[in-house]
Amino acid sequence: MNKYIYIFSSLTLFFLGSCGSQEAAEYEELANKVIINQPIRDAHSYSNLDEIQTKHIHLDLEVDFDNKSIYGIARHEMINRGTDTAIFDIKGLEIQRVTLGEVGKEENTGYVIGIEDVILGAPLSVEIDSSTTFINIYYKTTTSSGALDWLDPKLTAGKKHPYLYTQGQAILTRTWIPTQDSPSNRITYSADVKVPKDLMALMSATNPTEKSETGEYHFEMKQAIPVYLIALTVGDLAYKKLGKNCGVYTEPSMLKDVSWEFADLRKMIAAAEKLYGKYQWEQYDVIVLPYSFPFGGMENPRLTFANPTLITGDRSLISVIAHELAHSWSGNLVTNATWDDFWLNEGFTVYFENRIMESIYGKEVADILALIEFQELENEIIEISGGDHPEDTYLKLALNGRDPDDGMTSIAYVKGAFFLKTLEEKVGREKFDVFIKKYFDTYKFKTITTDVFEKYLAQNLLNPNDIEFNTKEWLYEKGIPKNCVKIVSPRFEKVEVLANEFSNGKNIFKKKKKKDLITREKFITQEWLAFIRKLPRNIDVKQLAILDEKLNFKNSGNAEIMTEWFVLAIETGYLDVRPEMEKFLMKIGRRKFILPIYKTLAKKKENLAFAKEIYKKARPYYHSVSQKTMDELLKVN
Ligand code: BES
Ligand code: ZN
Repeated sequence: MNKYIYIFSSLTLFFLGSCGSQEAAEYEELANKVIINQPIRDAHSYSNLDEIQTKHIHLDLEVDFDNKSIYGIARHEMINRGTDTAIFDIKGLEIQRVTLGEVGKEENTGYVIGIEDVILGAPLSVEIDSSTTFINIYYKTTTSSGALDWLDPKLTAGKKHPYLYTQGQAILTRTWIPTQDSPSNRITYSADVKVPKDLMALMSATNPTEKSETGEYHFEMKQAIPVYLIALTVGDLAYKKLGKNCGVYTEPSMLKDVSWEFADLRKMIAAAEKLYGKYQWEQYDVIVLPYSFPFGGMENPRLTFANPTLITGDRSLISVIAHELAHSWSGNLVTNATWDDFWLNEGFTVYFENRIMESIYGKEVADILALIEFQELENEIIEISGGDHPEDTYLKLALNGRDPDDGMTSIAYVKGAFFLKTLEEKVGREKFDVFIKKYFDTYKFKTITTDVFEKYLAQNLLNPNDIEFNTKEWLYEKGIPKNCVKIVSPRFEKVEVLANEFSNGKNIFKKKKKKDLITREKFITQEWLAFIRKLPRNIDVKQLAILDEKLNFKNSGNAEIMTEWFVLAIETGYLDVRPEMEKFLMKIGRRKFILPIYKTLAKKKENLAFAKEIYKKARPYYHSVSQKTMDELLKVN
């Protein structure tokens, strides 16, 4: 019964929101402009992209908070090269029926769901004929739809309304939309979404700035994107414009703080455009989500998803926004064709992020940020090299048979960025910038692999300038090559000296001239991270208590500092921080923060029990991405 009601209402919705003929012509023109790449074999998708590929998806969705389910129809418009089967990726979806043909002329067709793989999900093979171009999949999401985070009102800032957001990257789109879930294909999309009347729906597409009276919303994404960038949020949301083509969404009670924190948004877009060419997505908005969001940010086109831990009240974590904005070029415009080429997304983005930070806040700040990341890279290389997959320190990964999430390490991000920094140093910034700008322009709206980049680099930068460079070593060999640029930062060194002096017993808080007093405000977040990292692991816990008394790290409200502090506290046995640490883990779901804390706890038997106890309570509040990582670490579930 239920099923028919939803099909009926979705169809009604579709007719209400269906495009006019002028729009259809516009869409046709745009779709024709899209250069369809020769799809390549992607080990993380079952789809037969070489035979048939989606060029446009129209989604009819109804979001049901009572049952925590999305009822959907995914209407695929395909380019068919003459095949009789179309294979889609699905995971945690209940498929109800599949039809062929345009709306109004649909006919049921046969389909088979293959064997479920724990990582990839299952292939959905649909019976078609060689001329089929419209395939409509009627489905329902389930509690195993890992992309979806359904939040009860108590987990939101306003505490009155439920909330939903999706996370598609890397291969979670298949858990809420049946798709050919490979980044090697690009599609345009449109959607008609129905949500409860008092909530606003937003997607990685054209967005409303106010709630609709009916709870019905129509979306268009006319530029071709990989499906991992399809995203949806539903909640009690408000918008504030911050500049010409940018603004912020969040829950009403947070809007003021969020607007203040991201006041430099317009400046960042201008800086990015000055570096590498026009912003191609018209609008750039940021939505600050609830605390369970597993990432710092996610570059959903036109609408970056951001973590509320960025709202520190001092604008000190704004580089995450620079990062997500940079993805509007690296990642969203030029996309990794497979997850083995992930560094093409993230390495370029970290490099670009640092350039945006440099142009707005100066080289001194940019260098401190880069050095903090470099320390993380060095540590992670040691860890990976001693593990089961030492080859994960190559930029070009080989993740077949594994979860692409395994590739989300500092290698792609920081080794990737230092590869580009090293190239920049070798050829000079001027030439390098011309090269990068041309690279984005050449491959915009395409997907590429590492070897395509390797050739492009040789032909367009190295050979014409007669430069010898160890490209192969950077891409296909382990660790950090010897010619990697070294960053020297006097400010960084100064806090490290201060940390040494403190741990050697010097009273760094002694009264002196006001401007020399050591206060929390004296240094930026990343300088404090350098300071904390430099403290020896055998430091007397009484010393740590002094730091907490003077600088209040354990309650600083800055999640970067708190994470670093809790890790040190666990390693040194400074147990006073337990209540704050527990509160932190109960509230925040960002994996980058909670993982190091649980990991450090798990190292000692007596702390492991404590970790498991907290995790049991906190787990329901985390997104599936964080749950999966912690489940594996703590060997629960
Ligand atoms: N695209 C990533 C997040 C991601 C990567 C999600 C792979 C799923 C799979 C995003 O741009 C990112 O890198 N976020 C970082 C930001 C940081 C490097 C500034 C994060 O969340 O910490
Ligand atoms: Zn990123």
